[in-house]
Amino acid sequence: MKTFNTVAELRAFRTALGGSVGFVPTMGALHPGHASLIERSVRENDATIVSIYVNPTQFDNVVDLEKYPQLPEADSEMVHASGGDAIFAPTWAEMYPDGFAYFVDETGLSQTLCGASRPGHFRGVLTVVMKLLSIVRPDRAYFGEKDYQQYLLIDGMAKAFHLETAIV
Ligand code: PAF
Repeated sequence: MKTFNTVAELRAFRTALGGSVGFVPTMGALHPGHASLIERSVRENDATIVSIYVNPTQFDNVVDLEKYPQLPEADSEMVHASGGDAIFAPTWAEMYPDGFAYFVDETGLSQTLCGASRPGHFRGVLTVVMKLLSIVRPDRAYFGEKDYQQYLLIDGMAKAFHLETAIV
């Protein structure tokens, strides 16, 4: 299993893959729920890429961001044990070369439920997922059902922007 820290390296690896590619985006601190998404992707695709990136723009509180657990070794072991082929773990700067100038926004569902109490949260989620999908270009991307509002917003974004990735 390989780990890539730059967009250029991940793109080169992705381009060389022949068959279907599944993608599991995460912020690390992987648990059995992530493992089951990775295992599903492994069953349904020829290769599986897992991203580990603590996305700063989806935190409305800097203390929560700084306290977010970082467990690279345990995460790497779990991806390996679940059958993943590669980890994409970019730096903050690598993912936001624009210096946080561009965002993807949704004006309805994202303002309600969890979004009502966390202003800007889904804007950050949609922005980073759009970036990740654009870098990885997966056939299928897997998201936990536990975050159903997030799932609906990402699925809606994929349809709104005519992305070729199926949101699973
Ligand atoms: O659900 C998560 O872990 C995050 O919101 C995601 C989709 C990886 C984006 O940072």
